[in-house]
Amino acid sequence: MIRGNKRKMLLLAALTGVFTVSLLSFSPIKQQDRNLKVLSKNISDDKLDQIMDEFKADLGVKCNYCHAPQQPKSSDANPKKDICRTMMRMTDEMNLKYVSLIPHADTVKLQLVNCNTCHRGQAIPSVK
Ligand code: HEC
Ligand code: HEC
Repeated sequence: MIRGNKRKMLLLAALTGVFTVSLLSFSPIKQQDRNLKVLSKNISDDKLDQIMDEFKADLGVKCNYCHAPQQPKSSDANPKKDICRTMMRMTDEMNLKYVSLIPHADTVKLQLVNCNTCHRGQAIPSVK
């Protein structure tokens, strides 16, 4: 019982690190520049940049693969952006609903699924 709760707390802490930012850290919120539907609306600019850089590396693409060129980044004109949101929700759900239920010995670190688990530097994951 205690073990299970501890694991859940560790998982939540890890997820918080991946997709949101601690409520304690402060940064100016430029709401007009943002259109966040999955990430925390209070996420810092630095953390947002870090996540975007990860997307770029994990999928082997440039920013405009998901963001329409000559548009503000908040624009949803590029349909890949919404596909990406679906992927973000899917990844969160895999971790919360499934990966966290795998029993881990105290010595084994909980390993979360992330974009690179499947993508490995490609926009369309290779099945080979
Ligand atoms: C794989 C797709 C993808 C790539 C590549 C990507 N982004 Fe994003 N970006 C998104 C998605 C999806 C959101 C909105 C997330 C949400 O709704 O919570 C977003 C949001 C943003 C935002 C906040 C505006 C908004 O829509 O709320 C900025 C700024 C941004 N990205 C900049 C960048 C930059 C700069 C790069 C390149 C270094 C980049 N992004 C690469 C998918 C991507
Ligand atoms: C469980 C494996 C898996 C994970 C985890 C995963 N993806 Fe995907 N992703 C796929 C598959 C498979 C496709 C191709 C689906 C198709 O046939 O259109 C895909 C497609 C995409 C596409 C559309 C590519 C295109 O050109 O149509 C984007 C963007 C994307 N993923 C972003 C992400 C991001 C960002 C993450 C992490 C938040 C992520 N994915 C996590 C499996 C995964």
